Amino acid sequence: MNVCALLGGPHKKGNTATLLEKVLDGARSVGHTTVRFTVDEMDIRPCKGCMGCKSPKAKGCVQKDDMGQIYEALQSADVLILASPMYWFNMAAPLKSVVDRFFALPFNAGIESSAFAGKRLLFVMTSGQPAEHDGREGLELILKKMCSFTGMTWLGMVTTGTGQTPLSEQPETLSAAFNAGAAL
Ligand SMILES: Cc1cc2nc3c(=O)[nH]c(=O)nc-3n(C[C@H](O)[C@H](O)[C@H](O)COP(=O)(O)O)c2cc1C
Repeated sequence: MNVCALLGGPHKKGNTATLLEKVLDGARSVGHTTVRFTVDEMDIRPCKGCMGCKSPKAKGCVQKDDMGQIYEALQSADVLILASPMYWFNMAAPLKSVVDRFFALPFNAGIESSAFAGKRLLFVMTSGQPAEHDGREGLELILKKMCSFTGMTWLGMVTTGTGQTPLSEQPETLSAAFNAGAAL
């Protein structure tokens, strides 16, 4: 199975990258193929809302940048992992730009050409606040909506949720992340 992970935060060795790597370690441990993009390092511009991708002769997004690599990887992905630190009760801006650019793909659930139908979505998230205050319920609602709209299956979230405790001091969180990856 192919797992495509998009890391949206700016810290290459931060909490979110650490948690995501554990999930990917778990996925690899049972033989899945993984690919990870650190989107903050890539040249991915925000969607311009030009609707060029929806014109009858369109061949995808009119913006030619590194998003092309992600469009290609998505084609063969069985599982899509979006990973982000919580930023103001939402995903971080670089990842939000990527999600907005999904608009250039055929995305409606039920249509034969849907680029997302049959894929499964997992969200990896870290936050500064404990679970009850970090705002995850709002983001989860958005992600579930995205799944039902595009025909993806919602797998849920892998999170820290213990506020200020460094991830290195949360062995249970790290092993839960590994197990979530192995269960994909
Ligand atoms: C701009 C910004 C906004 C943030 N907003 C939230 C938030 O809404 N809720 C929360 O619990 N933590 C918030 N945080 C804390 C981060 O989500 C948290 O420190 C995270 O683990 C950082 O991940 P990283 O090490 O991968 O960058 C915010 C941090 C920054 C820099």
